[in-house]
Amino acid sequence: MDKVVVSIGGSILIPGNGDSAFIKELAAMIEGLSEDVQMVIVCGGGRTARYYADTGRALGGTDYQLDVLGIGATRLNAQLLSLALGSMPETVPETAEDAARLSSPGRIVVMGGTVPGHTTDAVAMMVARELGAERVVNATSVDAVYSEDPKKNPCARRFECMTIEELGEVVYKDHRASECCVFDPLGVRIAREGRIDICMVDGRDLPELRNAILGRPIRGTYVRSR
Ligand code: UTP
Repeated sequence: MDKVVVSIGGSILIPGNGDSAFIKELAAMIEGLSEDVQMVIVCGGGRTARYYADTGRALGGTDYQLDVLGIGATRLNAQLLSLALGSMPETVPETAEDAARLSSPGRIVVMGGTVPGHTTDAVAMMVARELGAERVVNATSVDAVYSEDPKKNPCARRFECMTIEELGEVVYKDHRASECCVFDPLGVRIAREGRIDICMVDGRDLPELRNAILGRPIRGTYVRSR
């Protein structure tokens, strides 16, 4: 059975519009795959994390404190998805090691962030490394990786397939241009070192997300690390 880590951006889980209906459908899709794929799901913080970061910053919080607030938001989202999957734990796994230890065929493990200093993209990679996963599926609000922000440059190149080194270049450029980038640079490094492939897909497109989890062809970007 393939082992797959799914990183679900908070902007996918809780955009603030029809969230419960979407999360219900997402949970049903995930549950339907539990006999085919061994999965760990890592949830991002989305608008809740942004709200706490912005408010915490205005209150004079340090970067470390803002990260701690962000981690709290990711864990809340993990509990929300767990609730939709039928059992909401009082706490979610707090380390990549714990998540990998709890994972087994047929059991879906859901978690959020771990410690300050990175994002849940990197956490997903750490879990994949612990688990010996075949790939990480990154469910985000963009449909693929582009050479530049397509909103700013309509001529930006859209990648169907790329190497992890090419993703590294895009991320490096993004990182210098803004705070927010297509994938956490630490995550790229772990993927390269661990030879873990990444499927970048539009997470609101559930058939596409399902294909990515199953290792089938996708319309998004397949990042080869091997
Ligand atoms: P996210 O993983 O949602 O980060 O964690 P993000 O990059 O802002 O979201 P996407 O990828 O665009 O959807 C939210 C915040 O929580 C903190 C960071 O501050 C991050 O920005 N965090 C999260 C950590 O410090 N450590 C973690 O392990 C996870």
